[in-house]
Amino acid sequence: MLDLLGNLERTHYCGALRAPDEGRDAIVMGWVSGRRDLGNLLFLDIRDRTGIVQVVFNKESQPTAHAKAEQARSEFVVAVEGQVIKRQKANPEIPTGEVELIAAKLHILNNAKTPPFPIEDEINAAEETRLRYRYLDLRRPKPHRNLALRHKIVLEIRKTMDEMGFLEVETPMLTRSTPEGARDYLVPSRVHHGQFYALPQSPQIFKQILMIGGLDRYFQIVKCFRDEDLRADRQPEFTQLDVEMSFPRQEDIFRVIETVMVRVCAVAGIKTHGPFPHMLYKDAIRKYGSDKPDLRFNMELYEVTDCFPEEAKTKLGIEGSVFALAAPGAAGYSRKQLDELTEKAKSNGARGAYFVKVAVEGTTSTVEKLVGPENVKKLAEACGAKTGDLIVAVSAKQQIKGTEAAALVAGQVRLQLGEALNLIDRSQWKFLWITGFPLFEWSENDQAWVSAQHPFTGIVDEDLEKLESAPWEVRSKGYDLVLNGNELGSGSIRIHRQDIQERLFRALGLSEEQLRRRFGFFLDALTYGTPPHGGIALGIDRIAMLVAGEKSLREVIAFAKTTAAVDLMAESPSSVDQGQLDQLGIKLK
Ligand code: AMO
Repeated sequence: MLDLLGNLERTHYCGALRAPDEGRDAIVMGWVSGRRDLGNLLFLDIRDRTGIVQVVFNKESQPTAHAKAEQARSEFVVAVEGQVIKRQKANPEIPTGEVELIAAKLHILNNAKTPPFPIEDEINAAEETRLRYRYLDLRRPKPHRNLALRHKIVLEIRKTMDEMGFLEVETPMLTRSTPEGARDYLVPSRVHHGQFYALPQSPQIFKQILMIGGLDRYFQIVKCFRDEDLRADRQPEFTQLDVEMSFPRQEDIFRVIETVMVRVCAVAGIKTHGPFPHMLYKDAIRKYGSDKPDLRFNMELYEVTDCFPEEAKTKLGIEGSVFALAAPGAAGYSRKQLDELTEKAKSNGARGAYFVKVAVEGTTSTVEKLVGPENVKKLAEACGAKTGDLIVAVSAKQQIKGTEAAALVAGQVRLQLGEALNLIDRSQWKFLWITGFPLFEWSENDQAWVSAQHPFTGIVDEDLEKLESAPWEVRSKGYDLVLNGNELGSGSIRIHRQDIQERLFRALGLSEEQLRRRFGFFLDALTYGTPPHGGIALGIDRIAMLVAGEKSLREVIAFAKTTAAVDLMAESPSSVDQGQLDQLGIKLK
C-alpha cells in the first residue's frame, strides 16, 4: 500500500541540512539512493535535486518507521518526518555530512522498478542506455549541475543583453525553406496540400528584417534546426544566442559579445577579460592549420616546401606544399608511434608524413637521406626545432582550390600531438576572433564557388570590384568567435544594399527565377530603406558544454539526440498513421 502525499509539506531540501539545523524537526522528500541495514539500525540515503541526506531508522525507538524502511528499495519515492541530529562520525564527502535525520515516520509515496544503471555520477552505462532512460540519467547529480549551469548562463545572457539595450523578439518556427535549403526540416501543411513550412536553420532573414523594421538592437535565445551530419559538437536541434544591430562597426559587435562572454564565464567561476585578440583567417590556416585554432598551446606550423628538392618530392609523391611542425621532446617516438601518427594523418587527408628526429644519432631516416643534410638543417631552423624534438612534415592528398590543404592536415597533426604530448594547458580560456574570411569557397560537389558563410555576408569594400572577375580573392566582412579550438559563434556585417545583394546572388549562379522564388520578399524589403547592420549567433549548447568542462553537447541538453539524430527515449523520428498522411495529402514512395 502506498501512502498519500495529502497535506504533508516539505520543510527542507535534502541537500540543505547543515550542523546549525541540529535539533530541528524536518520533513524531506525524494528518492531512496542508498540503503544499509545493520539490524537494529537501518540507513536510507534520500536524494533530491539539491543533494543527499542520511536518514536513520531505529528499530527500538521507532519500530513502525523501521519496519516500513525495510520495504524501501532503490529509487522508491519517499517522505521522511524526523529530527536533525549531529552524526557521530561526520562524512566529509557530502555537504550534509555533519548531520543526519533520525526518522519518526516514513511515507512511501511510490515504488520503482530496479533502474538499469545506478543513479550516481560515476557510471559506466552505455550512452545509448542513458539516453533511452533519460529520466533516470537526469536524476544523477552531474546532469543537474550541468542544467543548472545552463540555466544560469541563459539568465545572465538575458540580463546582459537587456542592460545593453537589446530587445528579445521571437521569430517564426514555421517559415519557408530558404538559404541552405537542402538541410531543412520540412513540415507539411494540412490546409495547403503539397506545400511545406521549413523549421528555421537560423532566424537570419528575420533578424535582418527586424533591422529594416527599425528594431535597432535585437537578440533571441532561439532553437534552430538542421538536418546535417552530426558530431559530438552538433545536434539536429540546438540553441543560439542570435544577435543583430543597426549601424554597427565590427568593434561594436565584438564589444557586445565580449561583455556577454566575460559575464557568462564569471557565472561558472572562470575569469576572463576583453578585448579578445584577433587573427586573420589566412594566418590561422598558415600557423595552426585551422580556422578555429586552439591557442592553449603553441607548436606553430611552417611551410617547408623549399626544404624538399624536386627529386625528393617525386620519390615521396609530394604535390603542392609541405607543412611541418616541431613536436617538443618527441624525438624518442618509436616506429609504432610514428606509424600511428602517419595513419592518423592519412585519415585526415595526408598523402604522406615525413619525420626527422632532431640530433638523434644513428637514426637517419629515409626522408633525411632523400632531402640531404643541408635541407635537414634548413628544416630544423624553419621549424625552430631543438635537440630532442621530432619534426613532422606532411603533404596533402588533394589540393583544395584557394586553401593550403597541407596546412589543414598539419593542423590535425598539431591537435593530435598537442593531446598526446600533454601540451594543452586546461586552465586557460583562449578566446579569439577570426576575421578576413574569403567570401567564397570552392565546392568540389557542385564544382562551383559557394558562400563560405551565408549569402548575406558583407563584402570588404575594396574587393567589391572583383566579385565577378576574381571571386576567390574577395574577402568577406564575416568573423568567427573561437574558444579553446571550438567555433562558438559566427557572424558578419551584412550586405544592406539591394544592388549588391543581387550581384552576389548572381555571382553564386542563381537565376532571376530562383532568386525571386527563394528570396523575393527579402529582396523587396531591402529596397525600402535598409540600415547598415550586422550581427552574430553563438551556440548556447557549445558555450554550456565548454564552460561545464564537458566533451559532448549531449551532457548539457536535457533531451539530446544521438549522432543518428534519434531520440531514443521518445523514439523519434517515427512513422505515422495512414490517416494522418491522408489528411496531409502525402503519399510515401
Ligand atoms: P552558424 O551557422 O555559423 O551561423 O551558426 C552559429 C553558431 O551556432 C552553433 N551551431 C550549432 N550548435 C550545435 N549544433 C549544430 N548543428 C550547430 N550549428 C551551428 C555554433 C555556430 O558557431 N545565421 C548565422 C549567424 C549570423 O550570421 O549572424 C548562423 O547561424 O556555435
